[in-house]
Amino acid sequence: MTGSLAARLVLRRSPPSRLHFRREVSLPAAERRREGVALVKELPAFGHTPTKYSGISRDEILAKRREYLSPSIYHFYKNPLQVVEGKIQYLYDEKGRRYLDAFGGIATVCCGHCHPEVVAAIVEQTKRLQHSTVLYLNPAIAEFAQALASTLPANLKVAFFTNSGTEANELALLIAKLYTGNQDIISLRNSYHGNAGGTMGTTAQSIWKFNVVQSGVHHAVNPDPYRGLFGSDGEKYVRDVEEIINFGTSGNVAAFISESIQGIGGIVELAPGYLSAAYSIVRKAGGLCIADEIQAGVARTGSHFWGFEAHGVVPDIVTIAKGIGNGIPLGAVVTTPEIARALTRRNYFNTFAGNPVCTAAGLAVLRVIEKEKLQENAFVVGSYLKERLSALKDKYELVGDVRGRGMMLGVELVTDRQLKTPAKDETLHVMDRMRELGVLIGKGGYYGNVFRITPPLCFTKEDADFLVDAMDYTFSRM
Ligand SMILES: Cc1ncc(COP(=O)(O)O)c(C=O)c1O
Repeated sequence: MTGSLAARLVLRRSPPSRLHFRREVSLPAAERRREGVALVKELPAFGHTPTKYSGISRDEILAKRREYLSPSIYHFYKNPLQVVEGKIQYLYDEKGRRYLDAFGGIATVCCGHCHPEVVAAIVEQTKRLQHSTVLYLNPAIAEFAQALASTLPANLKVAFFTNSGTEANELALLIAKLYTGNQDIISLRNSYHGNAGGTMGTTAQSIWKFNVVQSGVHHAVNPDPYRGLFGSDGEKYVRDVEEIINFGTSGNVAAFISESIQGIGGIVELAPGYLSAAYSIVRKAGGLCIADEIQAGVARTGSHFWGFEAHGVVPDIVTIAKGIGNGIPLGAVVTTPEIARALTRRNYFNTFAGNPVCTAAGLAVLRVIEKEKLQENAFVVGSYLKERLSALKDKYELVGDVRGRGMMLGVELVTDRQLKTPAKDETLHVMDRMRELGVLIGKGGYYGNVFRITPPLCFTKEDADFLVDAMDYTFSRM
């Protein structure tokens, strides 16, 4: 009987809260004894042996970070994790210990770490031509642009590539202002759209906003079904957009920008009916609708390739990054040919954007998603994972809400369900304990009390079980 099958039998026999977890066999025995971990359950079997790490130590890295890197850079976990290798849905530390990656480098690794076909596309393109700028013709950018357009509805077919999500949103805001001749932007409270001049203005959480001038943006009441004033009544929240236009602007706006599921804000789904109603009000005021698909796009939500599709809307501009490059710096603004023409009034240029290596990677990502049916997997395994996480809500008062779609799920912890008091310390504690058990999850939300579960889209049902059992085990011991 294999180890993982034995673990599954143990699972079936014992109630989840009494599970014991087996630390990875690669964890030195002495360390396992020292930590006194009862050894029963293992990570799902995986046939990859990491290369022996011979680089500088964890302490040396920490010292160099302290001396040579910006003090603004922070890390997860009391005891920071060193990651030296990745393979599909797993990460390895310097001792060769394997971790289940349920954060995906912040919803970025969609095909899996170092997916062989994405790596091959990058390596082959790098060997042939790494950089040339768009001033010369190259097939990679043209082929990728066509493939990307084929995933989008209506006339959303013209791309401008960027190096990041922030750049994509900055450009989308600029295009909207140029095209409409208007200046005012509306974004949602609790959103995150980037950290440069314009995008920091649209971002609406004080923890991500520096005290510098950020003008011309109005932040609408967030249609948050869990914490919002009107619960899941999307239509009621829309009145605020109308009031912003009527009382805060000339009556005309340049754009409305929103995520279809707020990521950094704590996996907040927009109340049903909100987005389509907001789009029509904004369009009446002359504005364009921008869908920030930087986290929710590229098959992550499972039910659809793009998050906005679940809301039954077609945006005027779509911004894309993160998953489309599977870790390679690649972003895009896609819009209609007519709107795109606004950018021809002056020269607009970006040295690295759309470079052959990144666009070759992007094309490989789209091919892998299709070939390996990753959208379907995100839907099937994501729905199963959500169901299992939701069962924890019935079991533990600490779990206030479970939400999201596909491989973009959130678990909000509260110390009081009525008052929805954020359980910030508990969130940190559970994250730390789950890391010890071999599972990496993210956190977010304005109060830092929401687990963000955004694994590579190839996450398996066994991975989902391991994650939930580890969370269950941790909650049961608090
Ligand atoms: C929804 C959303 N938009 C924009 C951005 C900014 O992207 P980047 O960090 O690549 O600049 C992020 C980053 O997390 C994001 O989650």
